[in-house]
Amino acid sequence: MDTSPEGARVALRGDLLDFTAMPAWGELEPACVRHRPDHWLLIEGSRIVGVQPGAQVPDASWRQVDHRGRLLLPGFIDTHVHSPQLDVIASHGTELLDWLDTYTFPAEMRFADAAEAQAGSERFLDALLAHGTTSAAVYPTVHKVSADRLFACADARGMRLITGKVLMDRHAPAALRDDVAQAERDCIDLIERWHGKRRLSYAVTVRFAPSSTPQQLEMAGRLCATVPGVYLQTHVAENRDEVRMAHRLFPQARSYLDVYARAGLVNSRSIFAHGIWLDDEDRALLRDTGAQIAHSPSSNLFLGSGLFDWRAALDADVAVSIASDVGGGTSLSMIRTMADAYRVQAMAGQRLTAWKALHAVTLGSAAALGLQAEIGSLETGTTADVCAWDWAAGPVAERRMQVARNLHERVFAWMMLADERNLAAAYVAGVPRFVR
Ligand code: GUN
Ligand code: ZN
Repeated sequence: MDTSPEGARVALRGDLLDFTAMPAWGELEPACVRHRPDHWLLIEGSRIVGVQPGAQVPDASWRQVDHRGRLLLPGFIDTHVHSPQLDVIASHGTELLDWLDTYTFPAEMRFADAAEAQAGSERFLDALLAHGTTSAAVYPTVHKVSADRLFACADARGMRLITGKVLMDRHAPAALRDDVAQAERDCIDLIERWHGKRRLSYAVTVRFAPSSTPQQLEMAGRLCATVPGVYLQTHVAENRDEVRMAHRLFPQARSYLDVYARAGLVNSRSIFAHGIWLDDEDRALLRDTGAQIAHSPSSNLFLGSGLFDWRAALDADVAVSIASDVGGGTSLSMIRTMADAYRVQAMAGQRLTAWKALHAVTLGSAAALGLQAEIGSLETGTTADVCAWDWAAGPVAERRMQVARNLHERVFAWMMLADERNLAAAYVAGVPRFVR
């Protein structure tokens, strides 16, 4: 792994913005927004070691990087994204189940090949970094090698990554099906090789209930119960035809989420993508277990899946993070994804604040993953995953920034108008991994 020289000192100067707690719904000036304009962020080795005002220039032992006039944010965390699906992003004309058959499954077959999996993983992770995303929970494919290469490539970049081989032993093309015994061996091998190594964690990755047999779900539950620290990631209640399919295949379950609960897959390390078609009982279960919803607004709009009821989740005290879900989602940019989250809530007569959105891609997602001591903020002691963003790119955004009257107005306009082209630099554990 390429790391910063032990103890190397780097000081980044810019407008620091992060959170110390979760902002309330609708609040425009919450006390938990920590805005420190023109400050130095001090990084020693891989960690943030302090912050000081711009006028207090660090001594010559610090390499100074001038991002004055830029926003310095914690690296974004994408809690749900598919590495092989860069090849099918923006594919026309289908809803979820047809989209899987028509575009996604054929593309995922290519990752059976080690060289394809390696090249695809590199392309994907470099693209994440170029969009300001420094951590992610990722689905590769059913092939063991696809997860192995993704772990190796994340390790080479020093990234905090959560992934695992996809489990699917039915309702998929033969070339993408595993079986319970082989899948269990592959998971155990991958866990031994990668789980808990440096910044990597294993996620038991059930694609979704319709593509796993009850026996495979049971095996997944066994892994979750026996391997400390593993995550569980899957999809739930995304699309109405998918929900009907889940009910048909698991008639004994009370709800789609209950299929997972019965297999022992709902816990504080579970990441459920979408959760559009849930009921109150499902939300109570998510709250009681501490599981999270990875809300994927771009994907939900693009595939016509539905409008996520964030207020209902919030009222039930369910943790919600924001995710790109590429290739159902049409951009790796968490800025564009936050803008889509705003639009989805607007359709329900709700108004998402920039604070709520930004929190859900930084400290909120870190906390939902149990990783707030490592990522998601600019707190001293955390790992230096930091991005420098231009406030504006082009005359329209520049003008909008000039006339913004307060911080929320400015950050909200940035969230709606900016994208990956605003990214100046991305640091991972103190190392610049993307520089424009
Ligand atoms: N449900 C099962 N597989 C997938 C997938 O790859 N993307 C999305 N959005 N939903 C799924
Ligand atoms: Zn997905």
